[in-house]
Amino acid sequence: MGVSPFIGIAITIALISLFFALYPFTFRLPASPSPSSLRLFTVEELAIYNGTDNGLPIFLGILGSVFDVTKGKSHYGKGGGYNHFAGRDASRAFISGNFTGDGLTDSLVGLSSTEVKSIVEWRDFYIRTYIPVGKLVGRYYDSEGNPTKYLKGVEAKAARGAQLIEKQKKEEAKVPGCNSKWSQDEGSEVWCDNGYTARSETTRNSIDRENEQTLCML
Ligand SMILES: *[C@@H]1O[C@H](CO)[C@@H](O)[C@H](O)[C@H]1NC(C)=O
Ligand SMILES: *[C@@H]1O[C@H](CO)[C@@H](O)[C@H](O)[C@H]1NC(C)=O
Repeated sequence: MGVSPFIGIAITIALISLFFALYPFTFRLPASPSPSSLRLFTVEELAIYNGTDNGLPIFLGILGSVFDVTKGKSHYGKGGGYNHFAGRDASRAFISGNFTGDGLTDSLVGLSSTEVKSIVEWRDFYIRTYIPVGKLVGRYYDSEGNPTKYLKGVEAKAARGAQLIEKQKKEEAKVPGCNSKWSQDEGSEVWCDNGYTARSETTRNSIDRENEQTLCML
């Protein structure tokens, strides 16, 4: 005894409608569909996402790029060790470790090229690890979301920092018995092969800047 094919069609239609009715709830992505990657924040708007309100995502700014770091809530949320970074751009503090008062600034004035390079590497870390949600209007992005001269200057300085580190590595490699490496956590480190003794020597270059170098002597 066959069931009327119309019932089958009616059920199918009902299921399809139900699917679309529930679709936004079932398949809605956490916080950030792609168009919001163009979202522009003011300092005040970003400050709301500081991890205080559990119903809101946590946002962090670095070099004017804003990331959703909610999945790192234990670090960036209330009471977390990196909570100072939430709801603001404290780019400088990534290298200074100064989380008090004016230490929490996005100004990089006076930092060396290798320090600026480290901050750019931190931004790369956030790009790899978290979800970009937009740009902070101010020092690094203008009101249209375009990079400012300041950001271009920072990126150029970071590139010089990278060249400097390469050059230092090459020079140190020329010294017999001497080894060197550079890491973000420990900076540059020099050590001597067995049989060589490390000696520190201060040299002066043409513009009268002191430069300390480790030599390995037999
Ligand atoms: C932190 O965010 C909450 C809302 O999420 C806001 O009321 C508060 O003012 C923010 N704190 C600062 C220091 O901006
Ligand atoms: C942090 O920065 C503030 C403002 O620049 C300064 O007054 C303070 O001494 C700094 N603290 C440390 C530990 O460097």
